[in-house]
Amino acid sequence: MLKLKGSIKISGDKSISHRALIFASLSTGKVKISNLLESDDVMRTLNILKELGIKIIKKKAQWIVYGNGTGGYIQPAQVLDCGNSGTTSRLMIGAVSSNPISCTFIGDNSLSKRSMSRLSVFLEKMGAEIKLTKKDFLPLHIIGDINLIPMEHIMQKASAQVKSAIILSALNLRGKTRIIEKKNTRDHTERLLRYLKINFKKKILSKSSTSIELNGPYEIKPRNIIVASDPSSAAFFIVGALIIPDSKITLKNIALNKSRIAFIDVLKKMGGKIRIKKTKSISGEDVGDIHVKYSLLNAIKIKASLSPYLIDEYPILSIAASQAKGITTMRGLSELRHKESDRIKSIVTNLSKVGFKVVSNKDDISIKGSNKIQIDNRKKIKTYGDHRIAMSFVILGLLYKNKLIIDDESCISISYPDFKNHLKKLSSH
Ligand code: S3P
Repeated sequence: MLKLKGSIKISGDKSISHRALIFASLSTGKVKISNLLESDDVMRTLNILKELGIKIIKKKAQWIVYGNGTGGYIQPAQVLDCGNSGTTSRLMIGAVSSNPISCTFIGDNSLSKRSMSRLSVFLEKMGAEIKLTKKDFLPLHIIGDINLIPMEHIMQKASAQVKSAIILSALNLRGKTRIIEKKNTRDHTERLLRYLKINFKKKILSKSSTSIELNGPYEIKPRNIIVASDPSSAAFFIVGALIIPDSKITLKNIALNKSRIAFIDVLKKMGGKIRIKKTKSISGEDVGDIHVKYSLLNAIKIKASLSPYLIDEYPILSIAASQAKGITTMRGLSELRHKESDRIKSIVTNLSKVGFKVVSNKDDISIKGSNKIQIDNRKKIKTYGDHRIAMSFVILGLLYKNKLIIDDESCISISYPDFKNHLKKLSSH
């Protein structure tokens, strides 16, 4: 059987790449960005920034952004197309909201089914004029205003995108904005704020709740940004190496941000032999190498409180669970219904098709694992156009030689265009 061996550098982190471009565009001069993820989603953000008057060029391996300062976006001539990218839509709606311009945001079929009112309610309270389609969806039209009212926002629902959008809006507003997160989420935006020496206060309110206070408007001095590599992309090969006998790999330069690598703790608790070695800090993020060896996995109960930190990794964790001894339960997954596909449905449908016993209800999934299942006939895997579902089942398919047929692999380029090249490298030993 094929095995995974060797060492690779994973591509740039998707969340950090979007933010690097946006913060560079808000700086008062030239910013060089290295290791930017050149995926479809990130290119959506890049092209929208160009539409908003930001000059961006590529020189060798670096992207150079000529920032126009906070409040420096100009009236776009066209609609702003976010494609499949939830992060582009939420972050850019926030970023334009405090500029005196009017913009129309559109997206593809999947993105046009994802809620935008979860963000617009906050911006509307501040005084932004927003028109949504069917009260919740793209196309969304916004008339931004530099005089939006800075205020306190209480976020009940965990969303790093919504938090970041409010922060981006606040950077150009005169006065105090306070965001109270009832459930903490990923903190890349705060880390970049710190790296760029933007003055703000973050307070821990309880174990799971934080407040962020900004006092704008800000002048952001240009500072070059190096993007750490993406732990969520690394997760596919980490699980691959754990479940394929004789595998042993090293993944380099991975962002070790605590709000992103909770899946590694989960996999270790399942018995995964994973070693992390921090090597340095780049642009506000710790990075390091991850060593992984084939391991016999045991089932685990994953509690609901972890879901904001595992949000993008449930598809690949469900693949690990399918090979683990016992029944793995994952709770508190309601947000998975609102991602690039209904990921509860995508996971359950496809794992069941392969032959695993999977049960789900509204918010939970349980998977009875077995590394002894044999597949006789080819099984067609439906990705629903969801990149993380596609990559997860490519990894599972490595165990069942050519038996899992992925209906559409093109969606992989949304977050990880080099996935197949990297897989080839790791499997050609
Ligand atoms: C992201 C936050 C997460 C995640 C998404 C990227 C971000 O969404 O699923 O892929 O870059 O802020 P939430 O808004 O649900 O936290």
